[in-house]
Amino acid sequence: MNALLDGLNMLYSEISFIKKPKKLLLKIPYLLNSAFSFNYAAIFAVDPILDEVSVISSSFPGELEKVILSLMHRHPFVDFLSKAETTCSLELEGGYLFLVKVTGCVEKLLISLFRSQPFKEEEEKALVLFADKLKCTLDKFSAQATQKDCYLQVIKTLTRAVDARSPYTRGHSERVAEYAVQIARALGWNEEQIESLKEAALLHDIGKIGIPDNILKKPSRLTREEFEQMKRHSIESARILESASILQDVIPYIMYHHERYDGKGYPFGLKGDDIPLGAQIIAVADALDAITSDRVYRKALPWQVAIEKIRQNSGTQFSPRVVDALLTALEQQGKNPLLLKK
Ligand SMILES: [Fe+2]
Repeated sequence: MNALLDGLNMLYSEISFIKKPKKLLLKIPYLLNSAFSFNYAAIFAVDPILDEVSVISSSFPGELEKVILSLMHRHPFVDFLSKAETTCSLELEGGYLFLVKVTGCVEKLLISLFRSQPFKEEEEKALVLFADKLKCTLDKFSAQATQKDCYLQVIKTLTRAVDARSPYTRGHSERVAEYAVQIARALGWNEEQIESLKEAALLHDIGKIGIPDNILKKPSRLTREEFEQMKRHSIESARILESASILQDVIPYIMYHHERYDGKGYPFGLKGDDIPLGAQIIAVADALDAITSDRVYRKALPWQVAIEKIRQNSGTQFSPRVVDALLTALEQQGKNPLLLKK
């Protein structure tokens, strides 16, 4: 029993370090394997309406998985799925299968474990405890996601309000977010990273909320003092978001979106890859939208002119890697769908 408790404690502490539900579910079979030495561990999603079961993650994808999937339509497995019991033990050719329902969470999940020896009662109890822990952790993630959604909605409304203060910046943050996503895709970022970048791009100018109209809408060149005040908006944006613990990973992208690759930007004069890549991407996306939008002092410039200007400033104002990614994104699409949206 002590070995079992040690295994469970190890699992719980490993789980507490995982911050994303997808990662958690992918890791569980491996964690179970290392804690309990199963031949096979997997998480299945159960769709009670369609009566279907699909693999979410598995420690040993292959023949055994197929065997287990084939069981899904046979008794007593079907009975188990439809009843309220949380566990089910099956003797199969070559070993024993133990199934634990993770009940009550958004997705119906099934932990599936296989090994050559039968399962002892205390092991079964320990695994049910583990399923409860998994459910609590997934519920926590789900509550955090809801909280984050609400927070983002409020912030996006504020961002739109900031953009709408001038007819020249209406829709700016949304377009910057779209361009940033395209560039990040060309750089090979994964969906999770892209989601954070999109949030950052949507919120990057939120700090302008504190800039007075006579500066924000000034049709002529800003004085030195006015420009100094305007430059504070990237720090202010970060400050507005610093109390939201769920948005901490986007703050560096926002704080440094006016830094330049050659170190001549603001607020800190960071240089090259000292600037977080997400901020380098937003800088290019921001410039692209600024050049191709009407301004008080000039009309929007054609798309091709904007690309040329950005290309000319690659290595000075902009990161060459990000400029290359933008060009790749444009090439991949043949013609830019974002241009068509404008
Ligand atoms: Fe900005």
